[in-house]
Amino acid sequence: MNSPVHNASFYDRVIILEQGNFLLSCMTTLRNYETSPIDFHRTFEVVSTQLIAAVHTDPFNVETPTGLTYSGCKQVKPICGVSILRAGESFENALRRCCGMGKILIQRDEETFTPTHLYSKLPRNIKESTVLILEPMLATGGSASKAVESLKEKGVSEGNIIFVNLVASRFGLETIMTRFPELRLVTAAIDEQLTSSRHIAPGLGDFGDRFYGTEE
Ligand code: URA
Repeated sequence: MNSPVHNASFYDRVIILEQGNFLLSCMTTLRNYETSPIDFHRTFEVVSTQLIAAVHTDPFNVETPTGLTYSGCKQVKPICGVSILRAGESFENALRRCCGMGKILIQRDEETFTPTHLYSKLPRNIKESTVLILEPMLATGGSASKAVESLKEKGVSEGNIIFVNLVASRFGLETIMTRFPELRLVTAAIDEQLTSSRHIAPGLGDFGDRFYGTEE
């Protein structure tokens, strides 16, 4: 698929994890079709912790015992996660410390690929929180857009939403970042291709099947 708009200006709202050897070795394990579900699961725990850690970035100064100021960072605002079922639930271990966890169910028509919002259950304090939408695979951006729209309909401001993702297709990334000019996104990888069945390529296959060890 071709990119929707060639607009590079949104990249200042995108955090891509540093592509060091440790992350690359984890991504190699996740992408390898021979990796067992248990190893896939273990490796995803490591990468998802890094993805969640990358969003804790509010500047915060403290005084050290030497009486000097250390300019650091801390998550000041309450944070909550909203996972897009079913693959997004894979992030929940990495977010155990957060105050609330919501769920959104979006179903995609197998032929037209049109996404429909079916269900959501959201934390009470969601309007005052930084909201992490949890979805490991960002393919066309259809379900992602529906999730952002449904949070906005519930009163969450777009600037408080961070999309937390493992692999994004270039097309899906450009689609959602152009459609939502205040959205922020964290990812570990951007892949250039989408297959005719809307899988990310090279990608890692169906994330839910690989994480839960279910059949394709
Ligand atoms: N969802 C997946 O699990 N994999 C893809 O490649 C795209 C969407």
